[in-house]
Amino acid sequence: MLNIIIFGSPGAGKGTQAQLIAKKYKLVHLSSGEILRQKRGQGELGRKISLYQDQGRLVPNSLIIKTMDSAINHQSLTQGLIFDGYPRNLAQVKALARALKKHNQEISIVLNLQLNQNQAIQRILLRGQSSGRLDDNLKTLKSRFQVYRIQTAPLIKYYRNQNKLINIDGQPTIQTIFKEIDKILKKL
Ligand code: AP5
Ligand code: MG
Repeated sequence: MLNIIIFGSPGAGKGTQAQLIAKKYKLVHLSSGEILRQKRGQGELGRKISLYQDQGRLVPNSLIIKTMDSAINHQSLTQGLIFDGYPRNLAQVKALARALKKHNQEISIVLNLQLNQNQAIQRILLRGQSSGRLDDNLKTLKSRFQVYRIQTAPLIKYYRNQNKLINIDGQPTIQTIFKEIDKILKKL
């Protein structure tokens, strides 16, 4: 079964490409950011999530790992999964591997969307005009990128060492990027 991680900085295009991939390859799209946003209204848990998201910090591992484990266990696992925004640090990498292993599954490939920070910021600020996302502003973005650089980007090396990493140029149009990804996935 095909289980993909779509990786990249804030605004690199993870959500956009994940949707297209999920549709074509009939995968379940699990976006950690989206799953958390859906819980923002829910009492104490929701308040906690909002606090972290609005500051551009990672929610605690205990919370996100439990949330994603439960999202994985809710699937019938007759279809592959595409993870968008998860994992973001080594503890999450290990937790994801464990959760998949319980279903005799593993990550097949990590697609690393590469986009420079200036372009990513431009795209996010444009989206911010209509997204309603409270973290789509310059101040929060600074912290989101810092968190990405320090905590998340090191995972690139980890997956490269596992021979699972493929770099994808995130600069061209959405369709051009998707064609590139499609070419790679077709060969798997
Ligand atoms: P999350 O929701 O994951 O946000 P993010 O990683 O900052 O990434 P974005 O969703 O902003 O960007 P994207 O890469 O999906 O790009 P998109 O396709 O939308 O996380 C938000 C927060 O939740 C975190 O800060 C944290 O607090 C919490 N969280 C989430 N996961 C967590 C975890 N694992 N652990 C702890 N906390 C966690 O594209 C961006 C824009 O560009 C769009 O408008 C799109 O239309 C446009 N666009 C896309 N591709 C192109 C293109 N090729 N050309 C032109 N425009 C394009
Ligand atoms: Mg996203």
